[in-house]
Amino acid sequence: MKKPVIAIDGYSSTGKSSISKVIADKLGLIHLDTGALYRGVTWFALQNCLYDDGSIDLQKLFASFDQIELEFRNNNGELVLFLNHIDISKAIRSNEVSEQVSLVAKQKEVRDFLLQSQRSLAEKGGIIMDGRDIGTVVLPDADFKFFLTASIDERTKRRYKELITLGIKADEQKVKENLIERDKIDSEREIAPLKQADDAIVIDNTSLSKKETIESILLHIQKI
Ligand code: DC
Repeated sequence: MKKPVIAIDGYSSTGKSSISKVIADKLGLIHLDTGALYRGVTWFALQNCLYDDGSIDLQKLFASFDQIELEFRNNNGELVLFLNHIDISKAIRSNEVSEQVSLVAKQKEVRDFLLQSQRSLAEKGGIIMDGRDIGTVVLPDADFKFFLTASIDERTKRRYKELITLGIKADEQKVKENLIERDKIDSEREIAPLKQADDAIVIDNTSLSKKETIESILLHIQKI
């Protein structure tokens, strides 16, 4: 039997990636965190495509796509993102990347650059992909679509905790402002905006634990 293709979209810090990872382990699927790809391109831009004032030179970035090789490597069941053979899995969580990633992700050139590789990975089935436009654009025919949401205060708490755990200095108010700003840019952009697919199951996990959210998703999948 062909393994399912599952799309998990939603707002920042609703737990999409960590939840998808557990579901992938339980169901024997590959997990792809597509936000990491956009973060990887942003990290490359911050290293190589800056104007003197520190802003990103988008034209230079677009002209550099052929120098970007993104690859997930399996490290004891954990997928680690490499860019041009460098492990960037921690660097892409930095505040600098978080502050610029929505600007980079709203560019058509960037989305086109990353689209085909995301689709090819799903061709054989057996994958759970999380992001913003998976159910609407990348995999509109996915077998299951979920859309996660939670209150801004709860999401701020989660993101703050994640940063501290990673050893990254953080200020709770700034974390909140960054989440609000990113939600706004992600939802209002012209191409592939963050929005729930008409056929997605919406889960508000403000007062659900990670375990409860996972159980709710599994219940939907196993019901069919
Ligand atoms: O999931 P995340 O917070 O790591 O994602 C980082 C950014 O990447 C997010 O602000 C929007 C963008 N993104 C996107 O536009 N489309 C996706 N499929 C995944 C992420």
